[in-house]
Amino acid sequence: MNKIILVGYMGSGKSTVGKALANSLNIPFYDLDSIIEQNLGLSISEIFNQKGEVFFRKYEHQALHQFLENHSQFVLSLGGGTPCYANNHEVLKNTDIASFYLKTSINEIVNRLLQSNNQRPLIVGKSKEELTEYVAKHLFDRSYFYHQSKNTVLTDGKTTDAVVAELVSKLT
Ligand code: S3P
Repeated sequence: MNKIILVGYMGSGKSTVGKALANSLNIPFYDLDSIIEQNLGLSISEIFNQKGEVFFRKYEHQALHQFLENHSQFVLSLGGGTPCYANNHEVLKNTDIASFYLKTSINEIVNRLLQSNNQRPLIVGKSKEELTEYVAKHLFDRSYFYHQSKNTVLTDGKTTDAVVAELVSKLT
């Protein structure tokens, strides 16, 4: 399988795991947020602030479909919200795509987001308590879409290498 998509909440490790997985399979890695940033010449925060979330969601939908039309070999990390808008989750079921949900617990997501230099527009400036409540509600709303992936891999307490090994074992 040489078309792989990773989904999961912000902080679930999609980009880190995606890069390592692509490296181990010797195929190219792409990150949908980075593609959007490059296309528009703006950071994700700037897009949200200057153009609004609805613009971002429409652009994200187009960028995803354009990417899939033009690439035949990839590990692609989606943004945390990508599968949850328009009909984007349908691509997770494509027969020629291996899709994985990197499932991370609320506590671990919150800890990782607090440790990172968080610039994500949806959660910037939130305290630990606010973030915990926000992530719990958001994950509840989104998990239906994440679970449209063909496989789920739990990431809590695992190293990047361990998650990659699990993904590779499910590919063969
Ligand atoms: C979002 C997640 C972000 C980015 C944008 C919106 C979301 O991607 O697409 O800030 O709705 O969860 P990451 O999951 O890569 O941080």
